[in-house]
Amino acid sequence: MAETQLLFRKAEVPEHVPPENVIDFDLFAQPSADTDFFEYWKRLQAPGVPDFVWTPCNGGHWIATRGEDIHTIYADHDRFSSRNILLPAERNEAIRVLPTSLDPPEHRPFRSLINHALSPKVVRGLEPSIRELTVSLIEGFRQRGHCEFASEFAELLPISLFLKMVNLPVEDRLKLKALSEQVNRPDGSMTPEEVNQGFYDYLMPVLLERRANPGDDIFSQFLAGSIDGRPMTDAEAFELCMQVLIAGLDTVVSVLGFLMMFLARNAEHRQLLVDDPARIPPAVKEFLRRFPLVAIPRTVIHDMEFQGVRFKEGDLILVPTMLHGLDDRAYQCPLEVDFERRIGIHSTFGAGVHRCPGSLLARAELRIFLEEWLSRIPRFDIEPGRTPKVLYGIVGTVVDLPLVWQV
Ligand code: HEM
Repeated sequence: MAETQLLFRKAEVPEHVPPENVIDFDLFAQPSADTDFFEYWKRLQAPGVPDFVWTPCNGGHWIATRGEDIHTIYADHDRFSSRNILLPAERNEAIRVLPTSLDPPEHRPFRSLINHALSPKVVRGLEPSIRELTVSLIEGFRQRGHCEFASEFAELLPISLFLKMVNLPVEDRLKLKALSEQVNRPDGSMTPEEVNQGFYDYLMPVLLERRANPGDDIFSQFLAGSIDGRPMTDAEAFELCMQVLIAGLDTVVSVLGFLMMFLARNAEHRQLLVDDPARIPPAVKEFLRRFPLVAIPRTVIHDMEFQGVRFKEGDLILVPTMLHGLDDRAYQCPLEVDFERRIGIHSTFGAGVHRCPGSLLARAELRIFLEEWLSRIPRFDIEPGRTPKVLYGIVGTVVDLPLVWQV
């Protein structure tokens, strides 16, 4: 399946992996431009593909291909550890982030600080700023009749908002975005050590300054927080803030890109939302089921048999959230977008103790964006002759989406 040159080493197939489970799947491959991102992942659910496959790419790892197992593995930290959240495994030695790479009980105190910083009350308080920023960005290009959606909107809304929450200058977004990209979609231009150093050189002076002169931003709140009764160390503060930055800079951006690519190509769905904005909140739920884009690994804690498959201690299992919402065992016609659909369980935000603490903020951004965009630019298309550009990796994303409309 890999259609580009491999960035990382291929592994030998271990003895405990049956040959019929082996498949060549590279998480970081970049298929041709006309490939649909979700259909590419769904090849792992084609008839005859086992529920767990093993690929030699990226150091060698399993992939869970079915929704129910994906949800179980995310939620079961007793059997599936978060100690490696990047592939290949050796990248985790250079890039360590908190609390995502911790299992309970160590995970808990860091997570409660994040929960507090992204609580429902905080998100409600942010809604006016989200709306104001959304409107000003759209009005900046509406009269022009075209925009490159990824760089002129999708990257600006969540990133500017997030940088405001952590009180960092919005001009720094390109530098931080470039570093985050090397974590989620490495292209070989930087080593993991260089990426970590880049974050360290940027963040550490900021954090030391905030320790000395705390503000009311999220980073200052983290630094003032207690970890089981003791202050957080500088190293922990760095790893925690780096995680929140990476998660906040690279996810809503990506969902926005995929859902706008869909709405540009599907006038009927778009018209339903234009005619009846009350449909927007259920539509956001459906978009989150339909456009999941994160794939994170877990590490098997001890030898075991799970769903008839023999796993060895230390085996890595990639757990793609895409393959839950899009699993036809969980949803009928899962590739169809249906705003009337009853949405059950999916794993777009993960599950269990690591379930995304930014989900409320993400939903608010998507809802407000649709309300403001569709009331201002109700009809739009992808520029004729252009193909949007999508990147694959731990987080899939749209980097070039040229849109046009009549003014
Ligand atoms: C639609 C947008 C988003 C998606 C699809 C998404 C997805 C996810 C997923 C799947 C996880 C689980 C990772 C795991 O179990 O290893 C996660 C964790 C996390 N997310 Fe999000 N996320 C989104 C938006 C955000 C935003 C806006 C923020 C912050 C402002 C955020 C902050 C975090 C953090 C800090 C974690 C780690 C939590 C932990 O380890 O306990 N996310 N996210």
